[in-house]
Amino acid sequence: MLGFATRLFSLANRLLRAMRVQLVSTSELAALRASSELPEPAEPADLPAEVTAELQPDNRRLSELRRRYAGHPAAAGSRWTSEFVGRQIDLSRFRADSPYVWSDRDAYVRRDGVKTRVATRAVNYVLSGYYAREHDDAGILQRITDDGLFGNRRVAVDQDLTVSRDLLDSVLELNFLERHLGVSQRATLTVLDIGAGYGRFAHRLAEAFPHVRAVCTDGVPESSFLCEYYLRFRGVEDRAQAVPLDELASRVAPGEVDLAVNIHSWSECPLGVIQWWLGFLADRRVRHLMVVPNDGEQLLSLEHGGDQLDFAPALEQCGYRPLLREPKFGDTSCQRLGVYPTYYHLFELHA
Ligand SMILES: C[S@@+](CC[C@H](N)C(=O)[O-])C[C@H]1O[C@@H](n2cnc3c(N)ncnc32)[C@H](O)[C@@H]1O
Repeated sequence: MLGFATRLFSLANRLLRAMRVQLVSTSELAALRASSELPEPAEPADLPAEVTAELQPDNRRLSELRRRYAGHPAAAGSRWTSEFVGRQIDLSRFRADSPYVWSDRDAYVRRDGVKTRVATRAVNYVLSGYYAREHDDAGILQRITDDGLFGNRRVAVDQDLTVSRDLLDSVLELNFLERHLGVSQRATLTVLDIGAGYGRFAHRLAEAFPHVRAVCTDGVPESSFLCEYYLRFRGVEDRAQAVPLDELASRVAPGEVDLAVNIHSWSECPLGVIQWWLGFLADRRVRHLMVVPNDGEQLLSLEHGGDQLDFAPALEQCGYRPLLREPKFGDTSCQRLGVYPTYYHLFELHA
């Protein structure tokens, strides 16, 4: 009987070959699938009850920040309205796929003026992980760790590397700064992160470069609240502080900050707000400025009605001249297939 089944099986396969189709047994199929699947990373970790209890919309500190930010000229959001934040931000899962760091949904990036869709599947993460490891000249991956806390999505690249967008973006951004500004060679460096979100970049900066000081600020009270919490949670608050928007002017003296970074933040603000921030940076004589826009090649604001305006002229007016612009994934096919491809722009203040 078995011999008959085998003969039938191979006859069917011979006939099907012409159609480039083959039958395989269920056990062979299972083995094939297992060999081509990526190892599953750990599920996002559970949070202790006291953490979830603190990260609530009616938290007293958050209510205070909301009162203090109201009416501030740099808090006039276009995308980040209180309604948007209430709908989109889950305070205890702020590292999950969210407006802070999209990690699941596909990206839309502009190439030669045309909006192009870039997938964000596991394979795109694996490719980006290989790229990050092969281009990690600053050795950041050896100095930082990752976990699934607060909903962070991780993908296993191989036995030695698990990546998330939080980790990947930070490794590439820190390598860019090391390449062009020699962060590790400086005796001290103070970095101001404008639109710091939950403190992703500052946390990584503090982990990778213990001699660097980070000051994080934001125009959205929920972001400052989460950033204060997260930097404390990670135990880096001695080197990375969240400064509330209304305290910034009194806490940052002229000449104190060497470098400002703006990562995926001005792309979500109106031009008037960007001009306010640029005026602040010029007034505080911040020499270098790194901008990472959502749209990659171009520096576009987001206005209240949805229009996008070029903010490059505003940079020039405040004295910031372009030094260089680099693709996030270099000149490789990863810039087409990597996770959220964009461009890194570096500016320098001229008198
Ligand atoms: C896409 S998130 C990026 C967060 C962070 N820079 C990162 O890369 O992980 C955009 C950030 O812009 C901030 N933002 C929105 N309006 C702002 C404003 N008026 N001034 C400064 N930051 C603002 C948001 O609160 C949020 O933290």
